[in-house]
Amino acid sequence: MTEIDCAQRPATSVWLRVMAVLYDPFLWLGEVAGMRRRRRTLVARAHGRVVEIGAGTGLNVAHYPAAVDELVLTEPEPAMRRKLARRLGRHGRAALISDAPAERLPFADASVDTVVATLVLCTVAEPERALREVARILRPDGQLLFIEHIRASSWFLAACQDTLFRPWRGFAGGCECNRATLELMSACGFTVEADDAVWRGMPTIVHPLTVGRATVTPPASSKTR
Ligand SMILES: C[S@@+](CC[C@H](N)C(=O)[O-])C[C@H]1O[C@@H](n2cnc3c(N)ncnc32)[C@H](O)[C@@H]1O
Repeated sequence: MTEIDCAQRPATSVWLRVMAVLYDPFLWLGEVAGMRRRRRTLVARAHGRVVEIGAGTGLNVAHYPAAVDELVLTEPEPAMRRKLARRLGRHGRAALISDAPAERLPFADASVDTVVATLVLCTVAEPERALREVARILRPDGQLLFIEHIRASSWFLAACQDTLFRPWRGFAGGCECNRATLELMSACGFTVEADDAVWRGMPTIVHPLTVGRATVTPPASSKTR
């Protein structure tokens, strides 16, 4: 499996190891306050060959339907990957773990039915490249299921996100709290159906959430046929 250029990552490997330990306790209140339910609802829609990008400590693992044909969890950070492997073992869930970054997914073109991305497109170093990789590996009728925190629509909260961008990114392992992920999806050729939500139990700058499903927009020539 390939390695991504880590020079673009602002977080040090020591801090990323600490983050892997703190991750679940830090998210706990948010999970209890609605994120766990949101994950369960989202992941229930996964089918066929499923690839989750940036799976972290595996907070979605418990929610995958038993009927998915194949589950591959990608996670480039070694410390997160160890926690992910332990969680898989605890749940007795069969899945492959890959260290591939979302920008270089080791899957053939049009070979995957469902890609899952939760709270990860804020953190990948090159989100456009990652989204183009997702579009490449999805079958024509495939789907990207996502929960992402995004740039606020309120000017005041967006200004707070811009102001706190650097300290938050340093603290949160490279997460960019002001990323306009929905716009990036559209720019990368996805048709998006999404609902707004609030990530309760978390700092206000990551409250604005988008939850939904995106499909690859067919080229204009194939729409007219
Ligand atoms: C905020 S955590 C989200 C973890 C998990 N998806 C969840 O919902 O709890 C972001 C994750 O993205 C991973 N990540 C960072 N850069 C990445 C990349 N280029 N490709 C894939 N995952 C990446 C991090 O290691 C981390 O596990």
